[in-house]
Amino acid sequence: MSKKILVLPGDGIGPEIVAEAVKVLDVASEKYGLGVELSYDDLGGAAYDRYGTPLADETLERARQADAILLGAVGGPKWDTIDPALRPERGLLKIRSQLELFGNLRPALLYPQLAEASTLKPEVVSGLDILIVRELTGGIYFGQPRERRMLDNGERQAYDTLPYSESEIRRIATVGFDMARLRGKKLCSVDKANVLASSQLWREVVEEVAKDYPDVELSHMYVDNAAMQLVRAPKQFDVIVTDNMFGDILSDQASMLTGSIGMLPSASLNVQNKGMYEPCHGSAPDIAGQGIANPLATILSVSMMLRYSFAEAAAADAIEQAVSQVLDQGLRTGDIMAAGCRQVGTREMGDAVVAALKNL
Ligand code: IPM
Ligand code: MG
Repeated sequence: MSKKILVLPGDGIGPEIVAEAVKVLDVASEKYGLGVELSYDDLGGAAYDRYGTPLADETLERARQADAILLGAVGGPKWDTIDPALRPERGLLKIRSQLELFGNLRPALLYPQLAEASTLKPEVVSGLDILIVRELTGGIYFGQPRERRMLDNGERQAYDTLPYSESEIRRIATVGFDMARLRGKKLCSVDKANVLASSQLWREVVEEVAKDYPDVELSHMYVDNAAMQLVRAPKQFDVIVTDNMFGDILSDQASMLTGSIGMLPSASLNVQNKGMYEPCHGSAPDIAGQGIANPLATILSVSMMLRYSFAEAAAADAIEQAVSQVLDQGLRTGDIMAAGCRQVGTREMGDAVVAALKNL
């Protein structure tokens, strides 16, 4: 049976990095008989320019029909001044929420070849392998009411709301425990339960879910402490489960432990493991169109797609191995460049992964 994949290149460097990831996907498909069928559409600023909205209804419908979605990145200064309700990011948030992609997996894995690329000392990060499980369709990103208004005294005021229901917490905690069970069997739940009511409920529900996972060691940490511990001693973590906003912040922070945010893939899954796969980084408008962006995070997102949505572990492993071989060959994009290595552009990096994959 063919696998229908909707490709949404998006904005900025999105189209450049997605083109390389698609080359890798095509080769993997041929080599492992995956039978992928690709179709393309726009999301974010590109969709705003074409349809007048960052996520058109027809695109959403195509996304619903697809077995998986490959996304580049959205946003850029070109759309900074448009109606905030139509900003590129709103398209991304809408597709996440409409498809109920609540389970966001963001691995921070340090390739040994890149130990020197991190801003932290090699001994602090070498061997690092963390998985951040971020709740993606709830919390302050989507909470109502949210409003900007004028107070009686003429001052402007704005506020957001941070709601979490028991069922939302339970399902993301379950993803966290399931992932921990498959890995190092340690789960750290990050919250702000010393201040926030939503975090107090979060902690309570995580404790309840823990009863079904006696084999997983659960700990709790306040988010400020977790931010500090991530740079002090990141290897103490195995799986971190946290809410939408804390996960947004901590995953960017964790990415730098691995040398570059240009290395980090992500998966966003619904209850049936249908998923959208995208790099953790943004659209990098400052380097868009120059052919210098690192495509590895998007290529590794394809690997996650094969693993989580299609249960094609051998093909997924092969892509990761091909990436590792290319790093062994000393090829580096600018963001991970180091002495003694050869700097390459986006396309050359993609071609090298394709060649390595073919030869495996
Ligand atoms: C991410 C991004 C998005 C988020 C933005 C682009 C809306 O930062 O995927 O981490 O905040 O979730
Ligand atoms: Mg982010």
